[in-house]
Amino acid sequence: MTTLPAHDVANLIGHFCIVPVVTVEHAEDAVPLAHALQAGGLPVMEIALRTPAALQTITAVAKSGSDILLGAGTVLTTEQVKSAFDAGARFVVSPGLNRKVVEYCLSQGIAVYPGVLTPTEISTALDMGLDLLKFFPAQAVGGVNYLKAVVAPFPKARFIPTGGIDESNIVPYFQVPAVWAVGGSWMVKKDLITQKRFSEITKLTAEGRKLISGMKRPSRSAGS
Ligand code: 3PG
Repeated sequence: MTTLPAHDVANLIGHFCIVPVVTVEHAEDAVPLAHALQAGGLPVMEIALRTPAALQTITAVAKSGSDILLGAGTVLTTEQVKSAFDAGARFVVSPGLNRKVVEYCLSQGIAVYPGVLTPTEISTALDMGLDLLKFFPAQAVGGVNYLKAVVAPFPKARFIPTGGIDESNIVPYFQVPAVWAVGGSWMVKKDLITQKRFSEITKLTAEGRKLISGMKRPSRSAGS
């Protein structure tokens, strides 16, 4: 199992600023989709393990030789971590703070971003040795206002808010210093993929990137 050091993965994600969260029904769409995101300026994909085609999708992109950072999303078990990494994923995202998944990833040096939402979850995640966390579901719980309030006591933690974020509300997230990147599916909606509207995906991706280009980025604590 080869892997990218976790801090390199985190730095790349911070550099890209947006993580497209992709649900793919047909693995044949994987490579054109990867190319569409790259063309829009986002060579990164979080492939949600929510469809039977998800692992094949990861394999197809990994084998295509595309220079794209591949992650697996909706990871709920250590078995899924192993399958996703064997397929070519290089980071793991979970909707919640699953101890078994986090501990397994940490033991293997795999970049892992579990979902957190409360001070208790953030505190627990920091205690486990993490400092970059998915914040999910961001919009449904109160968006930027709730995020600001809940992260205030944790100055070392960085977050990837995800859930309900799109071009209409992305900008204020990047005004919060604790925000490292955001995740979202608005540029890769299911219909766009199944109808093979790849140039539209490129356009939405480039527009998303443009909205936040030039905004000040946070730094992370040493050793992360
Ligand atoms: C996820 O799994 O992270 C979310 O489903 C992505 O959220 P969005 O579809 O609201 O962007």
